[in-house]
Amino acid sequence: MLKTPGFVQIHQPETEGLAEEAAAGLGARPRAAVSPKFFYDALGSRLFDAITELDEYYPTRTEAAILDHHTDAIAAAVRALLGAAPTLVDLGAGNCAKAARLFGPLGVARYVAVDISVAYLGQTLMALQREHPTLDMTAVGLDFSQRLELPAGLLEGSALVFDPGSSIGNFDPDAALRLLREARVLAAGGALLIGVDLVKSRAVLEAAYDDRLGVTAAFNLNLLLHLNRLLGADFDVRAWRHVALWNEPASRIEMHLEARGDTRVRWRGGERQFAGGERIHTENSYKWTREGFSALLRDAGFARVQAWNDERNAFGVFLAAD
Ligand code: AVI
Repeated sequence: MLKTPGFVQIHQPETEGLAEEAAAGLGARPRAAVSPKFFYDALGSRLFDAITELDEYYPTRTEAAILDHHTDAIAAAVRALLGAAPTLVDLGAGNCAKAARLFGPLGVARYVAVDISVAYLGQTLMALQREHPTLDMTAVGLDFSQRLELPAGLLEGSALVFDPGSSIGNFDPDAALRLLREARVLAAGGALLIGVDLVKSRAVLEAAYDDRLGVTAAFNLNLLLHLNRLLGADFDVRAWRHVALWNEPASRIEMHLEARGDTRVRWRGGERQFAGGERIHTENSYKWTREGFSALLRDAGFARVQAWNDERNAFGVFLAAD
């Protein structure tokens, strides 16, 4: 019999809280800064999927290759930590494709998909449930950038928390440490399987965030359309351009939107004059070394850390347990 995935709506993404947060970011001095979570409206989620197919954007396919190549070793390590039939909690599940590849090899019994973009998640989970009719699935709409905590009773016992795609890179090191600590609590004696993009040359990094087709530019600019809806703002997308740069001392790619000329923007409850060349900071994507990220996991309380890499050391997959 075909099951229907369960839905748990913890946090309505289109709330006043989010609108206020975005408005505060636009008004911030000296530089406007809006959280990257505002990329992910329905179109933004699809644009991100398109990014993952670009030649220049290596992280997704490199991580998939690592997971494919080392499936047996990873499955054996997970079995040793959690036994057979684990619960898989997928953070920032998106189109759920990465987790779905693990269902068979890990013998996953229950799948809990967590994402801020709950409308998109709902659609993908309905399709996934048809492909895996016996798997127990739950979709959770949650903005875990503030706090990663699921409602009591949703999870019983230990779990494998899965955080692929180097989404941890979108948190600054302090926030990343907090998130890892919260993931450890969520795993409740289970484990964390996490994908992390590693430091590499400026040329490779900047191309990955400023592709020739302009898909990443569209992804960045779409944030303005999202803000127009969310805040009743009047951004003219054509008045802005996409900027991506490698900040080596901070070990992060930064994405910005830069005003092409002087422009005034109004939104519900506020307005701002931007001078030509002025920027709105929209994303940081931190890149770690293998040693640096292992040390961060240990700081978060994970005593046992195993890691797998591709041949070029472009990306790392870490399995961490108490
Ligand atoms: C989701 N996150 C890990 C992506 C990254 O690489 O930081 C978001 C992204 N931004 C631009 N391209 C992809």
